[in-house]
Amino acid sequence: MFQGAERRNCLIGTLRTGIFRPAMPATDNVMDKLVSLCKRRGFVFQSSEVYGGLGSVWDYGPLGVELKKNIKDRWWRAMVHARDDIEGLDAAILMHPRVWEASGHVAGFTDPLVDCRTCKSRFRADQIQDAACPQKPSKHPGEHSACDLTEPRLFNLMFKTFMGPVEEQAAVIYLRPETAQGIYVNYLNVLQASRQKVPFGIAQIGKAFRNEITPGNFIFRTREFEQMEMQFFVKPGSDTEWFEHWREWRMAWHHALGLAPARLRWHEHGPGELAHYAKAAYDIEYEFPFGWNEIEGVHNRTDFDLKRHQEYSGKKLEYFDQAANERYLPYIVETSAGADRVTLTVLVDAYREEQVEGETRVVLGFAPAIAPIKVAVLPLMKKEGMPEVADRIYRDVRGHVNAFYDDSGAIGRRYRRQDEAGTPFCVTVDSDTLSDGTVTVRERDSMQQVRIAGDQVATWIGAHL
Ligand code: GAP
Repeated sequence: MFQGAERRNCLIGTLRTGIFRPAMPATDNVMDKLVSLCKRRGFVFQSSEVYGGLGSVWDYGPLGVELKKNIKDRWWRAMVHARDDIEGLDAAILMHPRVWEASGHVAGFTDPLVDCRTCKSRFRADQIQDAACPQKPSKHPGEHSACDLTEPRLFNLMFKTFMGPVEEQAAVIYLRPETAQGIYVNYLNVLQASRQKVPFGIAQIGKAFRNEITPGNFIFRTREFEQMEMQFFVKPGSDTEWFEHWREWRMAWHHALGLAPARLRWHEHGPGELAHYAKAAYDIEYEFPFGWNEIEGVHNRTDFDLKRHQEYSGKKLEYFDQAANERYLPYIVETSAGADRVTLTVLVDAYREEQVEGETRVVLGFAPAIAPIKVAVLPLMKKEGMPEVADRIYRDVRGHVNAFYDDSGAIGRRYRRQDEAGTPFCVTVDSDTLSDGTVTVRERDSMQQVRIAGDQVATWIGAHL
């Protein structure tokens, strides 16, 4: 199976802005609470909900789209802008059907499935010991007396569609199940256009589609998702060294995202687990409420992909090393992360409940740099000119970072709403603002407050992100 980081004139006082991280509440329904919070606050909605929803397809709401975009932007900065040896690409989703024959997906991107003739449910044959019988959940499928399972059958996970107006005569086209292949078939184009030399990489963020049989766990495994993939082309023989480089680099990226190091680990693929194209593979796993699971794979794909595309296309895909006067097919070290899966990881990692003055405070403790809203501007009261001053500050700040204006409800309730949205800073305009021009900045995690000059809010926020 394929696997598949003060002072007056600007401020009075100091704040602690590190990532505060007490243990996640010891409840087994964290996922339920998160799904509900995500809908309530506009992070993630079920696709086509008014029609009853579409299985394992999700839509990102106003806060979700910001969060996911911040994650993708960080990835792009780290993988493309911060490096001289990587170029970006945005290949089309639809590709020549031969691509998927060459890649091995047509023949081998399959899951073995069994159906139950009694309850009409479908299970992955290789995961039956993890599944529950729908009629008797205490038993696995096949163990209940009423179960009547079919023999396992192979089911291809690629979505098919047709290109051309007449379905019968049209070419079968696939919705790509990974972005990687668009990079392989473009590597010589990028090489020539960019004047890079091996070793070099191509990075891409884009949609992928898989008709998953056992999707679930919210946005963990979905049928439409986004991948953040980078393919690094190296001289054969240097692949192991580059593989280790990329393993280290990618784990460091997840740490810099603010994820708890204790909830991250490596999983090495054993001989029975390795994909057909891989010489070595490691997954970065995160400890979700539903167990340790893969969020990113780092693979040594050897020259498998370029060799296959050379064979199927009939075009030479060799690299000519001018200095050494030699030709070879580069080996490829791949780093492949799911944008949705990393978004879920960030949400789970950030979620916490605290008891404050006898009430439960729900907080999404995102690292400030990836928080959807960086600052909320709140007039304490809707009178005495406070809304006007707050509005001026809001308009100034939003020219720099994503900001939010809220004047409805008690101030405590407004703080709680921003805690739930993961907003790291709230700026409050009160009666002192009207006399001395200062405002209060409340920090999400510590709930500490400091006063700073109202005309320095944008500068102060910038320094604390
Ligand atoms: N090009 C290699 C490749 O696609 P993979 O292990 O199948 O390897 C890489 O997928 C990453 O893509 C996974 O670590 C995961 O983050 C993400 N991913 C894969 N299938 C997914 C799905 N059905 N839903 C959400 N993310 C998925």
